[in-house]
Amino acid sequence: MQKGKEILYLSFTDVKAVNLSMEETMEAVEQAFVEKGHGRFQMPPKPGLYTRDDAFIHAMPAYLPEVKVAGLKWVSGYPENVRYGLPYINGLLILNCPETGVPLAVMDCVWVTAQRTGAVSGVTAKYLARKDSAVAAIIGCGVQARTQLAALALARGLKVVKCYDINPRQVDLYIQEMQAKLPHLEFVAVGSAQEAVVDSDIVVTAGPILKEPNPPIELSWLKEGVLGLPIDFDSYWKPEAMQGCDKFYVDDENQFEYYRTVGYFKGAPKAFADMGQLLTGRVPGRESEKERIIGMNLGLAIMDIATGIRIYRRALEKGIGTKLPL
Ligand SMILES: NC(=O)c1ccc[n+]([C@@H]2O[C@H](COP(=O)([O-])OP(=O)(O)OC[C@H]3O[C@@H](n4cnc5c(N)ncnc54)[C@H](O)[C@@H]3O)[C@@H](O)[C@H]2O)c1
Repeated sequence: MQKGKEILYLSFTDVKAVNLSMEETMEAVEQAFVEKGHGRFQMPPKPGLYTRDDAFIHAMPAYLPEVKVAGLKWVSGYPENVRYGLPYINGLLILNCPETGVPLAVMDCVWVTAQRTGAVSGVTAKYLARKDSAVAAIIGCGVQARTQLAALALARGLKVVKCYDINPRQVDLYIQEMQAKLPHLEFVAVGSAQEAVVDSDIVVTAGPILKEPNPPIELSWLKEGVLGLPIDFDSYWKPEAMQGCDKFYVDDENQFEYYRTVGYFKGAPKAFADMGQLLTGRVPGRESEKERIIGMNLGLAIMDIATGIRIYRRALEKGIGTKLPL
């Protein structure tokens, strides 16, 4: 690569072909949380465009000096895209050389986003789920739900996965695909969110993010010792359910509070701590088998660049992608 003269372009297919493992992505994400915990990062809150109800296009810039990467994800989330046969999440990730500022790569961010979001939940489960967590609930069986489960299965010795989606066809497809990838797990299709949540040790909600949600999950559905992982913000969790949990961690308190100012998280509690503080040992994690804990990870740009730089380096080694002149 002629730095400053060329960029590496990686399509969705190229990024997938690099095949960064979930283990390695969890390592990258964990390292990024530690860097954040030590304050060695830059990540201004995401500016956004809001073009349709419940849709967004966000700019997500970040810099991790120790990882030697800077970059920007320009990502959209459109819940209605399913009508056009398009993914909910779309966008591009640009990586820059922090020494010179020159762009190094432009890559499709669909795979990266799903992979790092799964990895963040996996790392959260590694630190906050009960060690004997065996039953997971997956609500909203779309793109993110696949990588969520892949990471959770690495973090904990899961045995049973209860799956719910408002569209039963999505559940069938999900179970078919995930059963082939994780044959040791027992998959159960359930008919309601309540059936999925009750008696589960880990609860992932991955439906659409709604600004005015009518969330179903009640505190009384939550088993003692549960870890809740709402990647769809507060769209699925009643304020009383979130308030009633013992600890409420976030991935970044500034971004969490910023979202409140633009209308989300109206009834959500104040954060107990963020994951960077937890991973650098500055706050306690789970202190009893009975604690109900929520890990509200809203998605951080440092996770995208930490994952993206590994994909870029591996793509160069493997000769994947297209070099384009600047
Ligand atoms: N926190 C993060 O870092 C992060 C990152 C990426 C995506 N997300 C969010 O994750 C969510 C899922 O994204 P995706 O790419 O998997 O989308 P997707 O469209 O592939 O999947 C969403 C699934 O939810 C189902 N669904 C819709 N309404 C539902 C309901 N009321 N109950 C149960 N299921 C329902 C849909 O049928 C679909 O199968 C979105 O809200 C997205 O914004 C969060």
